[in-house]
Amino acid sequence: MMESMTDLDNLKADLIGQISQSEDLAGLESVRVHALGKQGVVTALLKSLGKMTPEERQEKGPVIHSLRQEVAQGIADRKQALETALLNEKLASETIDLSLPSPKIPKGSLHPVSQVMDELAEIFADLGFAVASGPEIEDEWHNFSALNIPESHPARAMHDTFYFEPQEGAASNGDKGRMLLRTHTSPVQIRTMKGQEPPIRIIAPGRTYRSDSDATHTPMFHQVEGLVIDKGVHLGHLKWTLETFVRAYFERDDIVLRLRPSYFPFTEPSMEVDVGYTLEKGRRIIGGKDPDGWMEILGSGMVHPNVITACGLDPNVWQGFAFGCGIDRLAMLKYGMDDLRAFFDGDLRWLRHFGFAALDVPTLSGGVGA
Ligand code: PHE
Repeated sequence: MMESMTDLDNLKADLIGQISQSEDLAGLESVRVHALGKQGVVTALLKSLGKMTPEERQEKGPVIHSLRQEVAQGIADRKQALETALLNEKLASETIDLSLPSPKIPKGSLHPVSQVMDELAEIFADLGFAVASGPEIEDEWHNFSALNIPESHPARAMHDTFYFEPQEGAASNGDKGRMLLRTHTSPVQIRTMKGQEPPIRIIAPGRTYRSDSDATHTPMFHQVEGLVIDKGVHLGHLKWTLETFVRAYFERDDIVLRLRPSYFPFTEPSMEVDVGYTLEKGRRIIGGKDPDGWMEILGSGMVHPNVITACGLDPNVWQGFAFGCGIDRLAMLKYGMDDLRAFFDGDLRWLRHFGFAALDVPTLSGGVGA
């Protein structure tokens, strides 16, 4: 089997040809076995070196070694190329087309309560109010005592409060009393006065809870609290603020408010505020200079000196006003919904009908309507 140099050249050309023609890794592997495997032709040539005369070995040795070297290198290069091609093919077939068109009907919308909260934040931001918040799980001190509602006070019983059972082994709540679900947003007044220096101008929208349920009451509902604490604040400031707010919210200038004397333990004097409505085809439309009737929309008053003192401020220096307003009711009046319970049913048809576009940003200057 002592091949001539021409035979070796031919063998090399043949193997290199087979390598470059291999279309896949399996084909290439069989070329490798054919050339370099235990029984391979190149392996056989290498073995034959041992049987050669020294002269012949000197002549053919380097040629056979370089043949093996070139074939091995050729296989490695081809293998690399085939693997790269395979990977590229896989990557191309597994891409995701992120340019798919958006659905024809946009899905998802803002709940009317969220929409109204946004509107309130915008309206009051234009008047210089910041948005504050407090915990929904409160203690008796913040929800009642600090608001001038002592334990014996009938207002406590009137609030239909959800109390928590005292947790066995839990740390005592000290003099802050039992834990409860806040019955109004007024405890945020206390937290804000204790947490920052006056002057204060905040609104605090959020969830509130009372054990009550019918067409106009749900156990969870939403309120927005307003609080202003400064020097020399009087009823005139309160009245102007409420009028400006209600006109901006209902987007009408011809809105008349009626302030009725009332009672809240945490304000003195206290008043309830009614907004005038006009009857149009039997429907109550908020607004009109000469109202056909009145609808109550919020409670308000000048912050009671006892509340200011409970927060560590001197009521001879600081005064202010506060108001609390049901957000769900505000939404119902503006957007014409009649059953409060539908707000929290999660019925998609209702949400599609009354929902708002997410990017609809209301402002006092640009209008707040949808
Ligand atoms: N917290 C009162 C309520 O829930 C509303 C209110 C707030 C009244 C602030 C006066 C001042 O009914």
